[in-house]
Amino acid sequence: MCGIAGYTGYQEATSILLAALKKLEYRGYDSAGIAVLSAAPDFSGANIEVRKTKGPLSALEAALENNAPAGKLGIGHTRWATHGEPSDINSHPHTDVSGSIAVVHNGIIENYAHLKSFLRERGVVFRSETDTEVIAHLIDHYYQNDKHPRSDPLLRATLQAISKLEGSYALGVIARDFPDRLIAVRKDSPLIVGLGKNENFIASDAPALLAYTRDVYFLRDNEIAVLYNDHVDMYNNSGEKILRESQHIDWDVESAEKAGFAHFMLKEIHEQPKALRDTLNPRLGGGINTAANVQIHFDELDLPALSAQAKRIVITACGTAYHAGVVGKYAFEHFARLPVETDIASEYRYRDPLFDKNDLFIIISQSGETADTLAALRLAKEHGAKVIAITNAVGSTISREADTVLYTRAGPEIAVASTKAFTTQLMCLYLLALELGRLRGVLGPERYAEGIAGLQKIPENAAKILEHKEAVQRYAARQFNKKKVFFLGRLFDYAVSMESALKLKEISYTHSESFAAGELKHGPIALVDKDTLVVTFATQETLFSKITSNVREVLSRGAASLIVMQEPDGGSTTFLEAAKTIADEIWTIPRTAAPFTPLLTVIYMQLFAYYCSVSRGNDPDKPRNLAKSVTVE
Ligand code: G6P
Repeated sequence: MCGIAGYTGYQEATSILLAALKKLEYRGYDSAGIAVLSAAPDFSGANIEVRKTKGPLSALEAALENNAPAGKLGIGHTRWATHGEPSDINSHPHTDVSGSIAVVHNGIIENYAHLKSFLRERGVVFRSETDTEVIAHLIDHYYQNDKHPRSDPLLRATLQAISKLEGSYALGVIARDFPDRLIAVRKDSPLIVGLGKNENFIASDAPALLAYTRDVYFLRDNEIAVLYNDHVDMYNNSGEKILRESQHIDWDVESAEKAGFAHFMLKEIHEQPKALRDTLNPRLGGGINTAANVQIHFDELDLPALSAQAKRIVITACGTAYHAGVVGKYAFEHFARLPVETDIASEYRYRDPLFDKNDLFIIISQSGETADTLAALRLAKEHGAKVIAITNAVGSTISREADTVLYTRAGPEIAVASTKAFTTQLMCLYLLALELGRLRGVLGPERYAEGIAGLQKIPENAAKILEHKEAVQRYAARQFNKKKVFFLGRLFDYAVSMESALKLKEISYTHSESFAAGELKHGPIALVDKDTLVVTFATQETLFSKITSNVREVLSRGAASLIVMQEPDGGSTTFLEAAKTIADEIWTIPRTAAPFTPLLTVIYMQLFAYYCSVSRGNDPDKPRNLAKSVTVE
């Protein structure tokens, strides 16, 4: 995810910004930039200079050689592309038309298209494809139109601008007319103010600050900080001054990079509520608080035309992304009533598959670089298919070669085992399935609205699953030494069991397999003994009795049994009571429509795999023999 740094004080800003940005490199980025304000000691003759480049920080450093802006106030940014490809122009900072206000931003402005037209109508010419650029122009717009300038017009203009923003944002703002201050804003995206002596700082994450100070304000949502050299004023979003106690950080740099989590994987598992929200909300139009009038939009696609033409969907991917494709298959069948073929890309590329010009071809890849997936994409294109890619990596090879790209907004994933990239892929597929269902006339307004409302509840319910992590940890501590772990489920639950088995084998090195529950009796049951743990997903209550009879079969062979199911519906505990007779551990999810349950059940299994891995003494972030991006066959 993007990284923000900012400085005001007595030292040269450029070198401090570069050092701070280096400490944020682990967050992932594809371009970098700084804006520095130079002024005389009495603040006269102020000017903002911006330098930004695509590529690593070393490219920015090379561009700054003999050309570094001088000045003691500045903001810096490492960009992880979300709107618009990685390029010099799209890199931050962004400025207003006259270059007198510069902004860095981390997050997603969901209504940026609307704001862009508002500003265009007022003569603003945009230079980049980013959502961020609107913020610089918007602040300038309110600054220019401030009829009653009072003590701090820059703060007033910033407050007015953010009142128009929907989405998530951490911001750093500087302005030529206010050479003594730096404004920082936080909503749903982290930002920290570092407190020094005659100098103050901002950064997305603590590691960037630790070389300078350990006394910080962790900004809360909707708080604004105005930093001067000798003090920091804090405001709420109504512009009222507030008082905050500073905190002292005693983490070392390594744990600071992981935001205090023991591993990146655990951090990324915890980032899922936000990642899901960031993937969902920008796709919803018409007011995101009441599902009744909400409509899903995919502005990148002519979905009405595709829906009129599509007779079949073909999905190919590898690994975890393939499992997202399996969930997608069930979702497209269920919501859009379209036949779906899902295949592993390494198989698909060597098959002799049938192509039809009316196929809708979907490629899924978190990295956008997987060699087999890319080969499947190229094969489809050779046969004239139009390919939609779902990926998390802007500017990746797959994103460049696909006809259309739907980006997930998971932010960079550092741990090798995919977690938030997977759940955001699911979110994207569900949205597509619901919208296709509506366009094809098979999903009436009521079911469509119900579907959207169901998805809107997912981020908060994902957070509720995370609250149970201690129970998962305790159970993992009892089970991590099992020789075999089998995962059972039907339909949507089967898809999750595939992903759960992969997660567990990837990082704990336990032999784990998934089976369609009905297949157990056709072979796998021969493997079940007292060294086996059987994890059963039983979220679809219409299939509950079928699945419990499968579990009875394994219990009689001495296996341990964990059941993952829906929490009781109101006062009725029938299913829960039945489950208690066949499980030594039960984990429940908040009640969710069956098709969406994978978004929640998989979080339990990510945590379980993680804790088993740690109990076995492995490094879950860097599992043996595996790579994050597999660019070879
Ligand atoms: C590797 C990664 C997996 C990923 C798979 C497909 O094996 O370790 O986490 O699911 O590749 O990668 P992709 O980037 O195409 O989703």
